Amino acid sequence: MRIAVIAGDGIGKDVTAEAVKVLNAIGEVSGAPLELEHLPWSADYYLQSGITIPPNGYDMLRDDFDAIFLGALGDPRVPDNKHARDILLGARFELDLYANYRPVKLLNDVLCPLKDRGRKDVNFVVFRENTEGVYVSVGGRFKANTPDEVAIQEEINTFKGVDRIIRHAFAHAAAHGLTKVCMADKSNAMQQGHALWQRVFKTVAAEYPAIKASHMYIDALAMFLVKDPGQFEVIVTNNLFGDIVTDIGGALQGGLGMAASGNLHPGRTSLFEPVHGSAPPLAGKNVANPMGAILSSALMLETLGREDDAKRIEAAVEAAIVAEETTADIGGSRGTSQVGDWIVANLKA
Ligand code: NAD
Ligand code: IPM
Ligand code: MN
Repeated sequence: MRIAVIAGDGIGKDVTAEAVKVLNAIGEVSGAPLELEHLPWSADYYLQSGITIPPNGYDMLRDDFDAIFLGALGDPRVPDNKHARDILLGARFELDLYANYRPVKLLNDVLCPLKDRGRKDVNFVVFRENTEGVYVSVGGRFKANTPDEVAIQEEINTFKGVDRIIRHAFAHAAAHGLTKVCMADKSNAMQQGHALWQRVFKTVAAEYPAIKASHMYIDALAMFLVKDPGQFEVIVTNNLFGDIVTDIGGALQGGLGMAASGNLHPGRTSLFEPVHGSAPPLAGKNVANPMGAILSSALMLETLGREDDAKRIEAAVEAAIVAEETTADIGGSRGTSQVGDWIVANLKA
């Protein structure tokens, strides 16, 4: 299984180094046939070469690799983050990775930020539409940089795009014995685009009579994620709302450094990355939490059909939390690389 590794920028490099150690260890322990190839695409590479992603980059990712692992992209030296748009959003769009799969699973009660809540209350998955919405950059600026400036940024919702992410959410629920799917939109205010979400959700829900389909406006969802997250099993929403609620999800898991994700197109080369960004102030200081990245490598293995390896990795991360072999963001006193080393040693034992 050939894996493209794009460490990227900032703490992306720090956490990817640990996920790579873990993948190499899994290869030794279970014989998973993993071949990692490192790609240098990043702010550094862009500033040196003027290239964000080479012209054949997307084809290469799609045709030469079984999966992609990404650290994070974003660097203050590239103020418009053109490279991040080309590499990360570019891969999502060009590889048509329409289902952004973001599990929100608390691994230990001690990490829960909510009073009197624990593992039983924080265990759901979010499916974020990943190829349209406000992310498509349709629009423009008129009279830019004048007092008369007009800035238009359209939200694109297509029947195909909305239908396939909602179907994916229901199919995931059915395949995993889950009984509830909640769709969040803003159809009270966004009466064109989100009417489409309403219509499609009702149609698809009717095909799954055993699954309880519910709807929330996104503002209410944000509130209930904090007040009563235990009610959720599967949440499906659009690109922007999914971005925002999965940072709340990160906090529910103990912090953004714990959150993992997969950008999926079932049956095709998919991309796995922690939910967090490049956190420039923490970069290169051996302080970033590598667990979100390591858990993303587990999601990657699960998607590649190596469920047992994925479970082993998750168990090793859980053991590290119990042993308090953790970084400062979740209350520990270890560095990024010490946490990775501990998890590797646990896997090998
Ligand atoms: P961020 O996720 O990088 O960091 C926000 C805060 O969360 C940090 O200051 C830090 O306190 C905490 N944090 C995040 N990850 C952590 C970790 N692993 N360990 C410990 N603490 C952690 O978000 P931001 O500051 O808004 O963005 C920084 C840059 O990253 C921007 O350029 C942004 O566009 C980019 N970004 C990239 C991705 C990606 O590549 N997938 C995702 C989000 C943001
Ligand atoms: C994420 C990130 C990206 C997004 C940024 C870097 C464009 O926040 O993956 O959650 O908004 O999708
Ligand atoms: Mn985000």
